[in-house]
Parts: sequence; C-alpha cells; structure tokens
Amino acid sequence: MSGFGWESTTDDVLAGKDLSGQTVFITGANSGLGQETARAMAAKGAHIVMAGRDQAKLDEAVAAITASVPQAQLDTLTVDLGSLESIRAATSRARQRFAKIDILINNAGVMACPFLHTHDGFEMQFGTNHLGHFALTAELMPLIERGSAKRIVNLSSRGHHFAPVDFDDPNFQHRPYDPWISYGQSKTANVLFTVGLEQHFAVLGIHAYAVHPGGIQTNLGRHMTPEMIEALMARVTSHDTGFQWKTIPQGAATSCWAATAEELEGGSGAGGGVYCEDCHVADVDDESATGGVRSYAVNSSYAEQLWTLSEKLTGAAFPE
Ligand SMILES: NC(=O)c1ccc[n+]([C@@H]2O[C@H](COP(=O)([O-])OP(=O)(O)OC[C@H]3O[C@@H](n4cnc5c(N)ncnc54)[C@H](OP(=O)(O)O)[C@@H]3O)[C@@H](O)[C@H]2O)c1
Repeated sequence: MSGFGWESTTDDVLAGKDLSGQTVFITGANSGLGQETARAMAAKGAHIVMAGRDQAKLDEAVAAITASVPQAQLDTLTVDLGSLESIRAATSRARQRFAKIDILINNAGVMACPFLHTHDGFEMQFGTNHLGHFALTAELMPLIERGSAKRIVNLSSRGHHFAPVDFDDPNFQHRPYDPWISYGQSKTANVLFTVGLEQHFAVLGIHAYAVHPGGIQTNLGRHMTPEMIEALMARVTSHDTGFQWKTIPQGAATSCWAATAEELEGGSGAGGGVYCEDCHVADVDDESATGGVRSYAVNSSYAEQLWTLSEKLTGAAFPE
C-alpha cells in the first residue's frame, strides 16, 4: 500500500520529491484537476506544458499558478482535442519546441454533454475523452520515448461503471444517445487505452496508469441540468456509498501519485496497465458501487480491439 489514501492531497503525495529536469505535459491544464496537478508539480521543480483549447484561459491559469509558485516553469500549448487537425498542428509545434516529455497526463474531459459531435464527426465524449487523447499520445510518443520517467496517466472515472465500449456503435449512430452511457463508455475507453499502452510500450519502459480522481466540484458539471444533478446524487446516495466530495487538491492527488510513485515502477513494482483510485491500485470488481475497476475495462483483447478501432477512426499511428 502507498501510505496515502482518500484524504491525501497533491502536496502530501509529492512531499520530498524533486521533479526538476522533468517535463510534464498536461491536457486540460487551465481548469480544475489539471490546473492543480500543474501547480503541485511545478512547485516541485517540474517544467510543465499546459495544454488547453483557449489561450486566454491558459494565460489566466498561468497567472494563478505563478501567484502561488513564483518560480514555476510553465509553457502553454493550444490544442482542441475535438479536432484531429488541431491535434496534428499542436503536436508538430510541441515536437519543435520541447526536447522530451517525461510524464504525459491525459486529463482533459467533457461529461454528460448533449448529443454533439467533434470536428471529425465523432460523438463528443468518445471523440474528445478517448479518440483525441489517443491521437495526441501517438503524435507525442517520440518525445515520451526521449523522456526519463516514461509515464502516461489517463484520467478515467468511476463513471466507467456505467458502460463498456460498444464496439459496434461507439458513436451512437444506431442507438439512442444517453449522456451517461456515453460518458461511461468514454471513461472505460480511457482504461482500455491504458491497458493497450502497457501492452504495446512496456517493452520500451513506458508505463501507463488510469486514474479515478474521486468526486470533485469543478467545471466538469457544466452540462448538468438541475434534474440531472438530482438524479445523479440520488443514484450515488441510494447505494449507501457514503459519498463525499473531495477538495480539488485531494482530487488531483491520485494523478500526481500515479505520475511519480516509486512503488509503481515497472519491474520491481506493480508496473502499469492498472486503474488507480485514492492513491492506490484498485482491484478488479464487477459488483461494487463504491470502488474498483470493472473487468470489461481491463480486458486485454478489448484493449487491442479499441486500439485497432482508434487507429482506423483517427488515422493516428504509434511509432513501431
Ligand atoms: N471532477 C470530478 O468529479 C471527476 C470525477 C471523475 C473523473 N474526472 C475526470 O477528471 C478530468 C478533469 O476534469 P475536471 O473535473 O478537472 O473538469 P474541468 O474543470 O471541466 O476540466 C476539464 C478540462 O478539459 C478541457 N477540455 C474539454 N474539452 C476539451 C477539448 N475539446 N480540447 C481541449 N481541452 C478540452 C477543459 O477545457 P475548457 O476549460 O476550455 O472547457 C478543461 O480544461 C476529466 O477527464 C474528468 O472526466 C473528474
């Protein structure tokens, strides 16, 4: 066990660590958990590349972090994960500007939005949360191969309990759209992508970790109507889950832990391809409403199926 848990904060899990010389690339770094992850890792000396789709919001986040960490080394990069063209352009700029990436944190996300589509016609949640990060990671892989830590953290969610990936109809072309089934599918895809990365890249010393951060009040709930909030809270409380909100520093702690914990080192430690919550590796559990990872999210053949489908849909190809 890590010695950290539900209550641990970013500063707790990074205490005593020196991240100087490490470049950490974080998507969705202008808000919520991404911004807090950037702040906490910058405070430990890391060079942070803050990716977001809006330069003005990135500038505000940089100002907020610099106010509390004056020595923070921060760069920004604009990228819209809902556009393959934007991803290709941004990653090409990243390969020119940065020599390496030690840690990639695929944190950006959209939750329970109406039935919308990305620029490339993918359903918005599957397209942004999974396919956008799949294409981004493929394009950044040459930089990650040059890093030393060689870790990739994918923000998933306990919401993955809501649904597996529907390989026959991932974009809801032939079934009714449901915002929570869609979110669940996209968050299951984040775990399967983690398993796929481990299957393909552990041999190069690159390890991937999926994270459920907890329940935290951020901008993620922007698409929720009062009725949706009521229904969700009823669902959470009806199972006697003892649900409690985390603070943002508690919510971002598991990302920081998965990105840096020594006990997760490949070889001697647990390795990657795992799902973490409350700063530990979760068990596979197909029943619990209060934790664990569903078996359909860590199934190695589904991970391979999703990899092939994602390559086909995005045209992105990982280096051999
Ligand atoms: N908060 C929770 O309770 C919770 C629970 C489980 C999992 N998570 C996961 O944690 C991650 C971070 O969420 P959060 O709570 O910090 O939410 P947040 O405050 O809404 O942050 C989400 C970030 O993703 C960015 N984003 C959304 N669509 C994008 C796109 N097309 N291109 C580029 N960036 C985009 C947002 O940018 P804009 O500001 O420009 O929209 C924002 O920076 C998400 O993956 C979420 O699924 C959160």
